[in-house]
Amino acid sequence: MALGATHLSLAFCLMALIVLVKADFDGKKEPINNILEQNSEMLTQDFCIFAAVGSVVAEAIARERRMGASLIRLFFHDCFVDGCDAGILLDDIPGRFQGEKTSPPNNNSVRGYQVIDQAKQRIKTMCPGAAVSCADILALAARDSVAMLGGIPYPVSLGRKDARTANFTGALIQLPAPFDDLNVQLKKFSDKGMSAREMVALVGSHTVGFARCVTLCDDRNINPAMKSTLKCGCPVSNNNTNLVPLDLMTPDFFDKFYYEDLIRNQGLLFSDQVLMGSTATANVVRTYNSNPALFLREFNDAMIKMGNLPPSRGVQLEIRNVCSKVNGNSIADM
Ligand code: HEM
Ligand SMILES: *[C@@H]1O[C@H](CO)[C@@H](O)[C@H](O)[C@H]1NC(C)=O
Ligand SMILES: *[C@@H]1O[C@H](CO)[C@@H](O)[C@H](O)[C@H]1NC(C)=O
Ligand SMILES: *[C@@H]1O[C@H](CO)[C@@H](O)[C@H](O)[C@H]1NC(C)=O
Repeated sequence: MALGATHLSLAFCLMALIVLVKADFDGKKEPINNILEQNSEMLTQDFCIFAAVGSVVAEAIARERRMGASLIRLFFHDCFVDGCDAGILLDDIPGRFQGEKTSPPNNNSVRGYQVIDQAKQRIKTMCPGAAVSCADILALAARDSVAMLGGIPYPVSLGRKDARTANFTGALIQLPAPFDDLNVQLKKFSDKGMSAREMVALVGSHTVGFARCVTLCDDRNINPAMKSTLKCGCPVSNNNTNLVPLDLMTPDFFDKFYYEDLIRNQGLLFSDQVLMGSTATANVVRTYNSNPALFLREFNDAMIKMGNLPPSRGVQLEIRNVCSKVNGNSIADM
């Protein structure tokens, strides 16, 4: 794998075990038994990690369903900025380090940090000795959220590493913005190796979750056709906390209705509705609208691909003890 994964997801572990059991009949028992033992330890450890993260995500979604959407977006905003390296989780250090967390696309907008901290803690208590990165926890939490909101679960490989830095400017430049026209969006996704079709699939995440009135009251960010229906009471102050669903029809379910919104010119964001602005992307929207199972499948494939975006070359990597801080010495000592 691009990431150099050190171990594989559950499904692949099971396949490996089956192969090993078959090989066992052919001869030398002892070494194969050793391998089997190691493998089942790994399997148990991975199982434990999956269960720990899954239980924390389930509790979070039970408390507040929107958190599932927030965790999917948190993973996207991590992976699109210098790869899936948990850079977004690093706290600023006033006067010394400004990372991704407070970069404009994320500041006061991205949520779910406490859920990731909780998952890290639960892995420590439930699965002692498990070396799992914060970047892996983000990948698992996003997958579990997709599944728990009504999508289909997909395999997540582990083995990502956490960066010892984060990129404030990178978040500004690499993440798509709600005022981006179609060409800018396509460029930002192709910079990450994503096709137009994969882009339309991934933005299908807007089938869940909310945008803030603070975002929507800026005319550049909203589909002009939705302006008159907006119940934000624009203009709003910067501390306004009112929300509007991205998918008007079924904001709580991971389904295909976002695409139906677009076909009805009811996409909420400017960036959403411009997907209907070229034949190529509009055709993908129509395809997913008429074939929801295909959407869910291709969405999963694109999430797996996004989850393999590698960290920037030359960046120091580690497995963090605390997801919001680098290990040991501070960032300034790097
Ligand atoms: C052109 C691409 C995209 C743009 C311009 C965009 C922009 C936005 C904006 C402006 C919001 C509302 C933020 C706020 O008001 O604070 C939002 C929310 C959201 N975005 Fe995107 N997004 C894009 C692609 C994606 C992708 C690829 C994913 C996931 C794979 C995603 C997942 C989400 C989710 C789930 C929410 C709701 C979050 C919540 O309720 O906490 N978005 N997006
Ligand atoms: C982030 O938001 C806070 C308000 O919560 C604000 O004080 C701060 O200036 C913002 N940071 C940046 C870099 O925009
Ligand atoms: C930070 O982001 C900028 C802008 O996207 C990019 O040019 C630079 O390579 C990034 N730095 C690292 C270390 O990845
Ligand atoms: C929000 O901002 C307004 C001014 O823009 C201020 O009057 C109000 O007290 C603020 N509310 C909160 C909860 O901070």
